[in-house]
Amino acid sequence: MKKLITAAVGLSFLVGVASADVASDQKAFINHFKTILPKVEFAEFSNGVYAVDEGSREQFEEILDGIPPYEGAVEKGGKEYLKFGLNKCASLADPAAARIKHPYFDEASQQVVTLESAIKKCYAKQTGKKLGSKKGKIARISAWISDQAVGKKINVIVKSAGAKAAYAKGKATFYAKRGQFNMSCADCHVYNAGKKARADILSPALGHTTHVPMYRAKWAGLGTLHRRYGGCYKNMRAKPLKAQTEAYRNLEFFHQAMSNGLEITDARYRK
Ligand code: HEC
Repeated sequence: MKKLITAAVGLSFLVGVASADVASDQKAFINHFKTILPKVEFAEFSNGVYAVDEGSREQFEEILDGIPPYEGAVEKGGKEYLKFGLNKCASLADPAAARIKHPYFDEASQQVVTLESAIKKCYAKQTGKKLGSKKGKIARISAWISDQAVGKKINVIVKSAGAKAAYAKGKATFYAKRGQFNMSCADCHVYNAGKKARADILSPALGHTTHVPMYRAKWAGLGTLHRRYGGCYKNMRAKPLKAQTEAYRNLEFFHQAMSNGLEITDARYRK
């Protein structure tokens, strides 16, 4: 009897995974971080590595207290948003709402629409030109849009069958081993979060998307989440995919959903 019950529990767990239930996935995710990082409050996870690395926290706070190195770029992004008529596209007309709405699953195209993919589409419609996906204008505009939503909570909705399939694919990408090191995103940012990897302390994946696009001292500028994905594919000695490719959009869908309930922040600085 006991065996049977265990089998039934095991089965319902499997069904849970197959049905891509965000709430139960996120619960497990949060519980894991509570266990390995018991001193870190939930809201603090938006600060990435600075939530777990006391050594560099002071420097982070000093940078935020002064004029952060990305302030001018974000302001410029606001001017560009108007200059290129991005306020005229329904998807971006209310910037705070746009940050919260994306990424979402579009039933018509059966694709995940990220904020950057919406910006690119609108920009092309308004100007007849193409916009990049990783840095420069797109990062500035996206950062300015996100600034309008500071304090609002990430709320990725995964409901339809199509959305669940995209989410499941993104989740599989997050946990898949790849590259010369045969590592997954989870190996560094879930199982070893808070630990040291060469010169770096590894940030927890919980809260990874609250401050995107991020500024990196290494880049000496802003970059989109997909630019960062490319960098981490290189960390894994794997070939990066193109930014805004379907696999990265699905990965983002899962990745952002794991931060549901955390506040959007304009504290974009990272080392
Ligand atoms: C070999 C370890 C390693 C692997 C594997 C890895 N990363 Fe990273 N990642 C890092 C390091 C080191 C940094 C910089 C320090 C930090 O924030 O963790 C980083 C930073 C990041 C950041 C920026 C965090 C912030 O607060 O701005 C994101 C997002 C990210 N990684 C996502 C991923 C994703 C998604 C994958 C899988 C495709 C992945 N990483 C795989 C090592 C890794």
